[in-house]
Amino acid sequence: MSECRVCGGAVREFVDFGRQPISDAFPAAGAESEEYFFRLAAGQCEDCTMVQLMEEVPRDLMFRQDYPYYSSGSAVMRKHFEQTARRFLETELTGPDPFIVEIGCNDGVMLKTIKAAGVRHLGVEPSGGVAGVAAAAGVRVMVEFFEEETAKRIRETDGPANVIFAANTLCHIPYIGSVLRGVRELLADDGVFVFEDPYLGDIVAKTSFDQIYDEHFYFFTARSVQSMAARFGLELVDVQRLAVHGGEVRYTLTRPGARTPSPAVAELIAAEDAQKLTERATLEGFAANVQRIRDDLVALLTRLRDEGKTVVGYGATAKSATVTNYCSLGTGLISYVCDTTPAKQGRLTPGTHIPVRPVEAFQSCYPDYAVLFAWNHADEIMAKERGFREAGGKWITYVPEVRIS
Ligand code: TMP
Repeated sequence: MSECRVCGGAVREFVDFGRQPISDAFPAAGAESEEYFFRLAAGQCEDCTMVQLMEEVPRDLMFRQDYPYYSSGSAVMRKHFEQTARRFLETELTGPDPFIVEIGCNDGVMLKTIKAAGVRHLGVEPSGGVAGVAAAAGVRVMVEFFEEETAKRIRETDGPANVIFAANTLCHIPYIGSVLRGVRELLADDGVFVFEDPYLGDIVAKTSFDQIYDEHFYFFTARSVQSMAARFGLELVDVQRLAVHGGEVRYTLTRPGARTPSPAVAELIAAEDAQKLTERATLEGFAANVQRIRDDLVALLTRLRDEGKTVVGYGATAKSATVTNYCSLGTGLISYVCDTTPAKQGRLTPGTHIPVRPVEAFQSCYPDYAVLFAWNHADEIMAKERGFREAGGKWITYVPEVRIS
């Protein structure tokens, strides 16, 4: 049991992945002994239903100067965020001198379009390296963690925000109350706080257990977000399911009564009830499915090794830290993992120390099998790597079950 970081209720654990490293910290060869480990387990609050990690990793260990995740690394995500920015420009940012703040703007993938439109904006991003890329593109960015005090300062210097946006960021923040108090402080009276994060409904339906890692502290549902919003003086007025990153929901919060809630909110809550999403038995069933996938994946990779096949990983994702460490997949089963991110190449995967190589290593000498750790980018990657299948190569995926294709 631990204490809910949203409401103080009792959090009861339902899944345990054991000892895990920082998912986005790729040690150089020789620096393996400096890695930080924690116990990765998730539970659910018995009062407000919020699913959350049992143990918190200090934020400075994750979101550092050399944080190696670049949101612009996927063509699909670049398009997604450009469309998001265009929608804001057409709907919310149409008044005189509008202002938008993004919490966790990463490399400026969304704000670039806002900047190009000449609209006042500010990104708040604690990871200096990715923030520097945003700044180099002309995006206005401050390098710090967003909290209540940050919001007060922004309001003093820039005035209220018509839009506050956060993508794959709010679920990263255990001290979420400070952020929501900050949002209340900074938001214009008729402004919107829009955030999108992996959806517990998809995680349970697909057993996408690798969405659970150090950075993903919360796993939201419409019900838990509605209750959290009310607790901090905000109202959930819209929800929209998104296909990106394996299934997300975009939530829209406003000041209470500022907008008429969309019927989509009640509909999604009803769907969650029908899925029995927040019931103990569902979450225990999820944990049982996770173990089955682990057993199937380890059995398959062991068989392929015994048959003398070559197997590599594709995409040194943060998600893959959970998979490789939970399943104890080391170089005996996976020769290397390829990834397009220069900051990860030449280093080792967290905890399991599999070498990370450029994608060119994969393309110049195809293996027999590739485990698609970046399964959330499957369409993009499989289209790009058509030659692999044409040469007889096979993909291994493990969400929602272990499959060779
Ligand atoms: P993500 O699943 O958290 O977005 O991480 C995707 C990782 O996969 C990231 O390290 C970049 C890498 N990647 C490739 O290597 N090739 C690709 O085509 C894409 C889209 C991502």
